[in-house]
Amino acid sequence: MLNTGAMAHLTPLHAAAADAIASLAGVPREGLRVETTPRPELGDLAVGVFTIAKTLGKNPSEVALDFAATFQSSELLASATAVGPFVNFRANRPAVFRWLIGAALEGSLLPRSLGAGQTIVIDYSSPNVSKHLAYHHIRSTMLGHSLVQIFRALGYTVVGLNHLGDWGTTHGKLIAAWKKWGPSDPNATVDIAMLNDLYVRFSAAAKLDPTLDAEGRAEFKKLEDGDPEAHALWSRFKTISLAEYQTAYDALGVTFDLVKGESEYLPEVPRVLADLAAKGLSSESEGALVVMLPDEKTPLLLKKSDDATLYSTRDIPSAEFRWNTWHFARSLYVVDRGQALHFRQLFKTLSLMGYEWASKCEHVPYGLVQIGGKKGSTKTGNVVLLKDVISEADSRVRALLAEINPELAPEALTTIATQVGTGAVVFANLVAQRDKDVAFEWDRVIALQGDSGPYLQYSHARCASILRKAGGDWATANPRPQLRELDLTKLGTGAEWAVARSLIDFPAVVVATLPKCEPHIICHYLLSLAGEFSRWYTAGNGDPSLRVLCDDLPTRDARLALVAAVKAVMAEGLSLLGLAAPEQM
Ligand code: ARG
Repeated sequence: MLNTGAMAHLTPLHAAAADAIASLAGVPREGLRVETTPRPELGDLAVGVFTIAKTLGKNPSEVALDFAATFQSSELLASATAVGPFVNFRANRPAVFRWLIGAALEGSLLPRSLGAGQTIVIDYSSPNVSKHLAYHHIRSTMLGHSLVQIFRALGYTVVGLNHLGDWGTTHGKLIAAWKKWGPSDPNATVDIAMLNDLYVRFSAAAKLDPTLDAEGRAEFKKLEDGDPEAHALWSRFKTISLAEYQTAYDALGVTFDLVKGESEYLPEVPRVLADLAAKGLSSESEGALVVMLPDEKTPLLLKKSDDATLYSTRDIPSAEFRWNTWHFARSLYVVDRGQALHFRQLFKTLSLMGYEWASKCEHVPYGLVQIGGKKGSTKTGNVVLLKDVISEADSRVRALLAEINPELAPEALTTIATQVGTGAVVFANLVAQRDKDVAFEWDRVIALQGDSGPYLQYSHARCASILRKAGGDWATANPRPQLRELDLTKLGTGAEWAVARSLIDFPAVVVATLPKCEPHIICHYLLSLAGEFSRWYTAGNGDPSLRVLCDDLPTRDARLALVAAVKAVMAEGLSLLGLAAPEQM
């Protein structure tokens, strides 16, 4: 999927190392793998020469020694040594600092055109209307949002899609409940809580009185047959739901390129069914219409005995629509792992239908989200609402900030508490590996230390505060120092180089999230960048000459430029995760 040739060129430094070996060995640089070394004592970049040695019929260690001896330094690479079968390169630090700082401040370290010409469709959030946006919806919403940002930053064309669950028997049940217990006053304000409660009440009552389920199904049948009254209610419920979801999306900074409900695919269902029948793929089983699938114990269900269309049936025209509209390189479905079987069945069906693009469809599953030990289901009413978690985070962070920084002005406190509170909740959901469950513990989630979003935001704010203290050009959010005038030979203490090495890794880290759609790799990277940064600036606590704001002006300016670069990368990384980067905390 990824062009590994391009990987070698992710940064000019990697390209320089690949070029050096390519010209020494007389091979194309595309096949060469350039790695960053684990420790700077070993050099900064390493290229293994196994394959080259094999073609030459020589011992890899000898080849490495030979290459290292004949290596001529270049702009970015100062020297080479052989370490076993590897040639390890040491960077020319001032030149690398110039590239890093320049690229970070003038745009991005990321390879901006890696994905040029390829479209990625991402289905995320996709809640079922007339139900609350529960806390667990955050995971699909923010994983999807983060993937949208990542692919887009690397130059892919991205289509973010909210595939609203606006069809199904649930809607029939809600209509039945409304007719029984809905408000008699036609002007009564109706919100999603009322709809949700009606649904919960209906489900509870149906347990005692099984005829209610039949009533719900009958209402849904009416809806499917286009009954105007049922349709008007359904459409009213949908409008109410969308308004509520929008508030949550606004709070999270999430947008979609297209919101398209399942109901919009209904006109295509008869054609799909006819097509499946014509291809001999559908058959009857126990009164239902199904697609039998190789290596699956259960078939894909197209229609139950009552003739209503199903979730899985509607996903077929929806997948076709995505292919026909965008000719995607990948079509991702960010949906909890409980739907793994559904997506396996769907993709196998698409493939049996003769669609070669079925292989480009991927389920991106994720683990459970728990809070206070409960998953929270909208059916029992035992649900933790997303908006409640966010507002609790907001007020906890507000109290914490007021304590650590009593000088924050009230408006600033309000804005920052929202950014950091939301950031804390979002980060907690992204930092865990995608397929792992997330257990949510308040103290850990909002801590300013440790694996938390606030810790990253704090280190961004810390960079901003150092630049503000420096005054002048540095005080602005995006300093544009005259890079040419900076003496970057002043940089290069162990801690400064460790920060630079961390920055060099940023492009490879972001690209590494793509194959398995794993934003958590960026979370861990930013935590380690924040750690290196903190080691660097706290080194100045004991020794004034190591302080960023030291007395020697050229050194101070060079260090400020590095702080600005860290700030820029931290801000970009946070935005790839969907977190705000506050200027003060
Ligand atoms: N509405 C579904 C649910 O809440 C998720 C839809 C995911 N997307 C899809 N194309 N099936 O479970």
